[in-house]
Amino acid sequence: MLKTVLCDLLGIKYPIIQGGMAWVSTWELAAAVSEAGGLGIIGAGNAPADFVRDQVRKTKERTTKPFGVNIPLFSPYVDDVVGVCIAEGVPVVTTGAGSPSAIIPPLKAAGIKVIPVVASVALARRLERLRVDALVAEGMESGGHIGDVATMPLVPQVVDAVKIPVIAAGGFADGRGLVAALALGAVGVQMGTRFICTTECYVHPNYKEKIVRSGDRATITTGHSLGHPVRAIRNEMTNEFAEMEKKGISEEDIIAFGTGKLRLAVIEGDVVHGSVMAGQICGLVNDIVPVAVLLERIMAEAEQILDRLTLLRK
Ligand SMILES: Cc1cc2nc3c(=O)[nH]c(=O)nc-3n(C[C@H](O)[C@H](O)[C@H](O)COP(=O)(O)O)c2cc1C
Repeated sequence: MLKTVLCDLLGIKYPIIQGGMAWVSTWELAAAVSEAGGLGIIGAGNAPADFVRDQVRKTKERTTKPFGVNIPLFSPYVDDVVGVCIAEGVPVVTTGAGSPSAIIPPLKAAGIKVIPVVASVALARRLERLRVDALVAEGMESGGHIGDVATMPLVPQVVDAVKIPVIAAGGFADGRGLVAALALGAVGVQMGTRFICTTECYVHPNYKEKIVRSGDRATITTGHSLGHPVRAIRNEMTNEFAEMEKKGISEEDIIAFGTGKLRLAVIEGDVVHGSVMAGQICGLVNDIVPVAVLLERIMAEAEQILDRLTLLRK
């Protein structure tokens, strides 16, 4: 059976991580992914510590397998959420949107595995020196907040730059992607967009349908003028956002316009005026299936591809 060092590092069956997603990856999805053999991750987003504590406890009630919490470093509650992760014995913490150097020491001291998401070789090198356990190298094909290097060039460059395990993210949805990531030197994949279209993910059905119906060129990036580009499916909201950036509207007004838009799509199901964050891989996401079915399918496909590739050696 296909296993990598990621399985040993995290105590999971399959080398597949469900990326933390603000508003989207609540305990229902995280617990389902962990229970099915991957690593499920609760997205702490900007939520206060009480909310995260409740999510962690519900996950622990549903599964005894390892899971994680993702802490975006722009959250006003970073320190409190770190405290919750330590107090609740969360096995893994991933971080996004910045450098987590300040929170690595307390998390490591508590025995928590720390896996930051990076979008550049420079940050990967810096974080390896701070003794993180692994890195997620996330390309700009991804949904949500992104860097500016694509997955294909980023992953092997990060792999070559560090000695710790590297997980590839951005543009993965099936067994082909998993094998490709392994070929680039990664020890597994982190997927976001693909996991949104599962029955256990609690986002509004309109959000899932929007992804299923989208093709390869459906996404757009906005927020470059703010220094925080975001990838989402093109709609009235992204068009208006892009227009405001083009007209040079003040940063303050653009931020005010964007606030609450992810929630509007995820909770209210308004996929016209809300932000439907998703990656370029949305064109390959064609169904909504239970997490366990998805993971089994990806692994079976990856095994078949590996067999087929072996036959290429004459
Ligand atoms: C709706 C949405 C919300 C996300 N929120 C976060 C987040 O809060 N923190 C984070 O580190 N990454 C976040 N991400 C990125 C994912 O964790 C993951 O790395 C990314 O989706 C991988 O690319 P893919 O969408 O091509 O699978 C988000 C992605 C999506 C689609």
